[in-house]
Amino acid sequence: MDLPPLLRRAVDDALNGTALSDLAATAAALSQRYRDEQHDTKSHAISDRDALAYLAVRLPGTYAAVRASFDAVAEVRSDFAPKTALDIGAGPGTALWAASECWPGLTDAVLVEASPVFRAYGERLAAGADLPRITWRVADAAVDAIDCGTRDLVTLAYALNELAPKVRHSVLRRLWDLTADTLVIVEPGTPAGWQRILAARTQLIEAGAHVIAPCPHAKACPLQPPDWCHFAQRVARSRVHRQTKRVDVPWEDEKFSYLAVSRKPALHAGARVIARPRKAGGHTTLKLCRPDGSASDQVVSRRDGALFKRARNADWGSLF
Ligand SMILES: C[S@@+](CC[C@H](N)C(=O)[O-])C[C@H]1O[C@@H](n2cnc3c(N)ncnc32)[C@H](O)[C@@H]1O
Repeated sequence: MDLPPLLRRAVDDALNGTALSDLAATAAALSQRYRDEQHDTKSHAISDRDALAYLAVRLPGTYAAVRASFDAVAEVRSDFAPKTALDIGAGPGTALWAASECWPGLTDAVLVEASPVFRAYGERLAAGADLPRITWRVADAAVDAIDCGTRDLVTLAYALNELAPKVRHSVLRRLWDLTADTLVIVEPGTPAGWQRILAARTQLIEAGAHVIAPCPHAKACPLQPPDWCHFAQRVARSRVHRQTKRVDVPWEDEKFSYLAVSRKPALHAGARVIARPRKAGGHTTLKLCRPDGSASDQVVSRRDGALFKRARNADWGSLF
C-alpha cells in the first residue's frame, strides 16, 4: 500500500528543506518509543521536529493500518456510507485521509488533536486536497468536552496508547456515546496494543456494541498470551522515509491491532485469517478465528478443489 499521491506530495513538500540527517535521530527515538510502548501523554509538548519525523517515518505506516482496518469494515458492512466523522488524537489527519479514500461520500469531519503543532501540519497537508470539510479542535480528549453531536464514523488511531490508563474507560464511553454508527480503534500490533484493544472490546460489548471486525463473533477472544491478535500491512517506503530511517529496504510491514464496533450488526460470512498464510506445494495452512468463537489452524489441500484456490488467495487479515 502507498499513500494517496496528494498526501505523498504534501508530506514531501512539508519535509522539503529539512535536512533528513537532522530528523534521523528524532525518527529513531520515535520508533524506539513506539517499540518500547512508552506512554506519552505530553502531546502538547510535541516539537516541530517531532512532527516532521512523524510525517517522514510513522504516517505511512499508520495510514496503511487505518486504511486496512477501514477496508475490513467496508467488507462486512457494505451498507455503511458515513457522511460525518470524528477523529480523536488526529495527529496530522491521517485517519481522515484514509476514511475519505475508503468512503468518498464523507462530507464533514471534526478532528480533535492536543498538539497545535500536529494540527498545523494537518491543516497544511489538507490544504488544496479534496477532503471533507474539516473542523480542527485543539483539545485534550481526556478532559475537554467534545460537543460535535453524534458522528457516523468515530476513530481513535494510535492514540489510546497515549491516553493515561485511568482515563481510557471514560474516553471510550464518551466516544461510543458520540458514535451514530461505527467506531474504529487502531493500535500498534504489539501484545500491549492487543491488550488495550481487548479491554476496549469488553467495555464496548458491555455497552451494547456489535463487534464487526476483525473478530467474526462477540464471544471471548480465543487467543491466549503469548499469542496475540494482530495484522500486518506492507507499506512502500519513499526515498525520504528510507533516508530518514537510514534503511535500504523499499517497504516495511506495519503491524497493527484493531477493533471496529457498530450500532448495527455485520454479516459475518466467514472466518478471519489471523496470521500470515503458510503456503506449501500441495497445501496451505490458515490460522483462522471463526464465527463460533474458536481459533485454530486449518490445512487446505489441493484435493479440496475450489477451497484450495480460495486459501491460496487468502491474505493475513482477510475473510475466508
Ligand atoms: C501516534 S499519534 C497518531 C496520530 C494519527 N491518529 C495517526 O494515526 O497517524 C497520537 C496523537 O494523539 C494525540 N493525543 C494524545 N493524547 C491526546 C489527548 N488526550 N487529546 C487529544 N489528542 C491526543 C497526540 O498529540 C498525537 O497527535
